[in-house]
Amino acid sequence: MTSQPDQVKNQAASDQTSPTSSREGSQPQAGQGRGSGRRTFLAGLAGAGIGAAATLGSQQLAQGLAAPETEPEPPLAQAKIPFYGQRQAGIDTPPPAYGVFIALTLNQDLEAEGLKRLLTLLTRDAARLTQGQPSITDQEPELAPVPAQLTVTLGFGEKIFDLTDPAKKPSWLKPLPAFPQIDQLQDRWSGGDLLLQLCCQDRFTLAHAQRVLLKTARSFASVHWVQEGFRRAYGSEKTGQTMRNLFGQVDGTINPSTEDGSMESQVWGGHDKLTPWEEGGTSLVIRRIHMNLDTWDQADRPAREDAIGRKLSNGAPLTGQEERDPADLSATNELGFTVIAPYAHIRRASAQGPTEQILRRGYSYDLPVAAAGGFSNHGESSGGVSNSGLIFCSYQTDPVQQFLPIQERLAQLDMLNTWTVPIGSAVFAIPAGCQEGGFIGQSLFS
Ligand code: HEM
Repeated sequence: MTSQPDQVKNQAASDQTSPTSSREGSQPQAGQGRGSGRRTFLAGLAGAGIGAAATLGSQQLAQGLAAPETEPEPPLAQAKIPFYGQRQAGIDTPPPAYGVFIALTLNQDLEAEGLKRLLTLLTRDAARLTQGQPSITDQEPELAPVPAQLTVTLGFGEKIFDLTDPAKKPSWLKPLPAFPQIDQLQDRWSGGDLLLQLCCQDRFTLAHAQRVLLKTARSFASVHWVQEGFRRAYGSEKTGQTMRNLFGQVDGTINPSTEDGSMESQVWGGHDKLTPWEEGGTSLVIRRIHMNLDTWDQADRPAREDAIGRKLSNGAPLTGQEERDPADLSATNELGFTVIAPYAHIRRASAQGPTEQILRRGYSYDLPVAAAGGFSNHGESSGGVSNSGLIFCSYQTDPVQQFLPIQERLAQLDMLNTWTVPIGSAVFAIPAGCQEGGFIGQSLFS
């Protein structure tokens, strides 16, 4: 079976080399008519001969006839990530520019049958929207035809299992323990029964998909929270370049990879000590972390690099030259101190055992600052000019074995805590994907 990243790569390659091939070899898609309609129009003109040429002017006709050969289809117009598969997309697929995370609260009186209906409808909508097709009941079908790598990923909170198959509830599916040293959690960013994770290269497509899905869900559930984030825009950086966060740091260097098998073993449960809660399933810990850019402004460059243990210029460890150079945690300077400080984020976060790896796939947020009031690291207005942070998303087979020990160490000691404050927290079980005709979460109803 082709893995999702390979499928995405293939799709991207076919988009680049043959802008029309994905359309011509497949079922008719919404929006497909645009290019071929133009070709038909031009062929008609050619058949009409000199009369038409005289009407249009020969120069215009020549330009028009050349257009289908030289004018490539916009690169995102048909960029689709497959929806159906053993695993849900949106986890090990490359993160696109925009992410919206929506936590729903299921209605008090919802029962298993209603939940089944909700999941069936959401699956049906997501399968269509991600492939550039309007949903069955779409009232703005004209907004659907640019999939722009849209993915829709569903996550389950405890209540889904309580309503269906409590025996299947993973033991780790509960709120994280409190971290009183650092947490300033707010209910409005925490918890949730059902997660909708939407990622897309086009904010417009995403807005439409979000509206369609929420309209589908509205008689079953209400919105608990919505978190919107962004990365660099499509086309502004080389594919595969590590993202930067709003502190300016290269963020995401040490992450499981599909190339060395660590994505498989750490996220999907291929490691002998890590068993997924269901085949094709995984988990998501989502922490909303305020980043106080206003006090970060007061730290100079050496202090910033010391806090993380890496260079700001290219993300190289302070003991190396290039981003991917391994960090030497035992190297010392002329005074005998370790080059990477005892409190440096990467020293504290680095894996202490073979199972302590997590997939970080976060999005930055940057909210309007009401009356330039700012937001300090204790939540009160500080007179600063930013309200920014990271929607920190960590995917792993088992949060207790993989995420928790790292978070515990960081809560005890991490220089980054000077400028960061977790203000939201939620844990979701990510169920397996499904095949056409099935729905996400089906295994809980059998
Ligand atoms: C706003 C909060 C945070 C910021 C700005 C941040 C930033 C960074 C940066 C710049 C790096 C170095 C480059 C890299 O490998 O990605 C890093 C590494 C890492 N971070 Fe964070 N981080 C944050 C929170 C967290 C949290 C909450 C966790 C987990 C509980 C975490 C886990 C890690 C891990 C595992 C690494 C790789 C460590 C290594 O092996 O070198 N980070 N982070």
